[in-house]
Amino acid sequence: MQTVKIACTQKKYDVLIGNGLLKNTGEIFKEYFSPCSAVLVTDDCVYALYGKAVLQSLADAGFNTVKFIFQHGEHSKNLRVFSQLLEFMAQHSLTRSDIVVALGGGVTGDLAGYAASCYMRGLRFVQMPTTLLAAVDSSVGGKTGVNLDAGKNLAGAFWQPSLVICDCDTLGTLSDDILADGVAETVKYGMIKDTELFEMLETGDCLRSHPKMCIARCVQIKGDVVAGDEFDNGERQLLNFGHTLAHAIEKLSDYTITHGHAVAIGMVIVTRAAENKKLTKEPCLGRLIDTLKKHGLPIACSFDLQSLATAALSDKKRAGSFIHLIIPIRIGEAQILKLPVSELENFIKSGLGREE
Ligand SMILES: NC(=O)c1ccc[n+]([C@@H]2O[C@H](COP(=O)([O-])OP(=O)(O)OC[C@H]3O[C@@H](n4cnc5c(N)ncnc54)[C@H](O)[C@@H]3O)[C@@H](O)[C@H]2O)c1
Ligand SMILES: [Zn+2]
Repeated sequence: MQTVKIACTQKKYDVLIGNGLLKNTGEIFKEYFSPCSAVLVTDDCVYALYGKAVLQSLADAGFNTVKFIFQHGEHSKNLRVFSQLLEFMAQHSLTRSDIVVALGGGVTGDLAGYAASCYMRGLRFVQMPTTLLAAVDSSVGGKTGVNLDAGKNLAGAFWQPSLVICDCDTLGTLSDDILADGVAETVKYGMIKDTELFEMLETGDCLRSHPKMCIARCVQIKGDVVAGDEFDNGERQLLNFGHTLAHAIEKLSDYTITHGHAVAIGMVIVTRAAENKKLTKEPCLGRLIDTLKKHGLPIACSFDLQSLATAALSDKKRAGSFIHLIIPIRIGEAQILKLPVSELENFIKSGLGREE
C-alpha cells in the first residue's frame, strides 16, 4: 500500500492507495478514528458491488452504520438529493463527532462531501473512490458541491476529507467508458504538470499496467497544488484545464456526455485555440489528440459556437469582465490566461476549428 500525505491548512490527511482495502475498512478506520456512527453514502450500482462489504467491515470494527443510497448518475448531484441526505442524517441523529463515508465516484464524493460540510456546520468525511476519476482527482482537494439548474457545481463548499481510502481492486469492475473518464483527468495532469506521465499515456496503457503508480502520481500533484492554493485563487486553477468548456458541454448535453469525456473535448478546444493564437511555445495539439483517441476519448462535439460560449460564461471561472482559461504552453506546462469576456466567443471559435 502507498500513502500520499496531503497538507492543506484546513486539514492534513492521508490518501491510502492499495489493493484489498475495502474489506479492511473497519480496521483502517480504527487506526484513524474512535468508535462513532458512520453514514455510508453511495449510489445503487456501487452499493450492489461493494456496499455490504464496507458496512460489514465497519460493523465488525465496532462502528455504528447507517446507509443512504441514491440513484447513480450525474442527475442525482442536485439540491433535492442533497437535502434528502441532510434530513436522513438528522433522522438518524448523527452528531458532529460522527463520520460521512463517500463510497463511489465523483458524484458520490461531491454530494456526500457537501452534506458533510453543511450538516451541523461540518463533520468529518472519508472518501472511498471507486472510479478512476474519483481516485486520481475528485476524492482529493476538498471541492464539494452539487449542480444547479443554471449550471455545473454552482453550489458547494471547500471541505477537505479526513482520510481517503483508494482500493484499486474496484477499478476492475468499471466499464471502458467510465474508466476513460478517469483517463481524461490523468491526461490533464500530464498536460499541465507531468511530461513523463503524459508520455506514459501517449505510448502505453500505464493505468492498466501500473494503476497504483499513476494514481499516486496524480494525487501527489493535486495535493501539492491544492496545499499551495486551497481556495482556488492561483495555481489551483491549472487543474481546471479544459473544464470551462467541459462544464458547458456537460450542461448542453443534459449530462449525457460525462465529465471526463467533456474534459477531453474541452482540452482539445482550448489547446487548438492556444496554438492558433501562438500562445504555446511548442506544438501539443497533435499529441494530445492522438493520446485521447488512443484511450477511446472524444475530441470534438457538435454544439454550436453560440451555445458553447453562452454556457461557458456561467462557469465559476469568470471574474468580472474576465474569464480565466488554462492554456498549455508545452506538454507538461500550463498557465492561466485572463481573457476578456468579450473575446471568449472568438477564442472558442478558433478552438473549434470549424466554420460556423
Ligand atoms: N470535486 C472535485 O474536485 C471533482 C473533480 C473532478 C470531477 N468531479 C465530479 O465528479 C463527477 C464525475 O465522477 P465519476 O466519473 O466518478 O462519476 P460517477 O460518480 O457518476 O460514477 C460513474 C458511474 O460509475 C459507477 N461506478 C462507480 N464505481 C464503480 C465501480 N467500481 N464499478 C462499476 N461501476 C462503478 C457509478 O455507479 C456511476 O454510474 C462529476 O460530477 C464531476 O463534476 C469533481
Ligand atoms: Zn474534472
